[in-house]
Amino acid sequence: MSDIPEPHKRRPRYSGKNPRRFEHKYKEHAPSLYPEAVQKILDQGKTPAGAHRPIMVPEILEALAPMPGDLAIDCTLGFGGHSQALLPRLLPGGRLLGIDADPIELPRTEARLREAGFLSDAFTAHRCNFAGITAVLATENGRRANVVLADLGVSSMQLDNPARGFSLKYDGPLDMRMNPSKGQPARELLLRLTPGKLQEILTENADEPHAAALSTTLAGKDFPTTLALAREVRTTLKTRPNEEQELSARRVFQALRIAVNQEFDVLDTLLKQLPDCLAEGGRVAILSFHSGEDRRVKKAFEAGLHDGVYGVISQEIIRAGEQERRANPRSKSAKLRWARKAHSKAPA
Ligand SMILES: C[S@@+](CC[C@H](N)C(=O)[O-])C[C@H]1O[C@@H](n2cnc3c(N)ncnc32)[C@H](O)[C@@H]1O
Repeated sequence: MSDIPEPHKRRPRYSGKNPRRFEHKYKEHAPSLYPEAVQKILDQGKTPAGAHRPIMVPEILEALAPMPGDLAIDCTLGFGGHSQALLPRLLPGGRLLGIDADPIELPRTEARLREAGFLSDAFTAHRCNFAGITAVLATENGRRANVVLADLGVSSMQLDNPARGFSLKYDGPLDMRMNPSKGQPARELLLRLTPGKLQEILTENADEPHAAALSTTLAGKDFPTTLALAREVRTTLKTRPNEEQELSARRVFQALRIAVNQEFDVLDTLLKQLPDCLAEGGRVAILSFHSGEDRRVKKAFEAGLHDGVYGVISQEIIRAGEQERRANPRSKSAKLRWARKAHSKAPA
């Protein structure tokens, strides 16, 4: 170890009373030091920078019915909010395997859960895509999971951090990869796409009504930053009202994010593997935020029920209650479905 003391690092300065930029929100990034400041933000129905509020926790706990001794897999660990609700219910004797593709947030969440008292006998973190759930489960000596959760999409930490390139509000490199060391960033994807292929992506991934016009001005062009892309969307639609331009910009970002991370393909892979990963009577809950995802989950669960793989499935989409929708606007578009694996029939 070096004897040279670490130079004191000054906090990034900001002008004005309220920090606006992500990196200036130092109180929100250190919730244990500033609990009152963080509570104030939560009371305003906002999510503190660098955090993620878990959605529909009571509904998910009811669907998953975690019990002491159960083996659980959280396919989308994120900030660890759902895992933190599941873990005490698995103990004593149970374990949770937390999967996330994000190499930046995963170690932070692992450290937070360790600090909360969940040691490696109760919780292990696995940095990989949930399409690899079978390989993660293989570390458990042939055991199958009693509980599986997937809370799809991106976390608030990813969305709010301009450096990750998901943000429409703040400028950052046009990236959008959940794992920035794999695949191609949105900038490269856009450069490579033909107008025809981009139109397909905008339509399939986001139902974008102006897909044809936008694909002509965006495909094959170089947009180094998020705001450069957002500007071009607005310019293309300059004869339309501002709100319409904003909605289209959001849909373009959503469609590209889904394409960059191949979100539909990896969900299909997960849904295919689920029956083999679940123990008899095992429960799975999937929270989705996009009609294309919900359609896939619904179809897979219905097919599993028909084939006798699942014994029972949720009949309807379960949605966040009024109070949660008010307190956390990100819960408004959440759709929850669950399924329970059938018990094999005893031989006659
Ligand atoms: C909505 S957040 C989950 C939030 C979490 N439930 C919580 O309570 O904090 C989704 C997380 O899943 C991760 N993720 C999304 N798709 C993934 C995939 N295919 N494989 C692994 N992780 C994925 C993202 O990196 C992100 O951290």
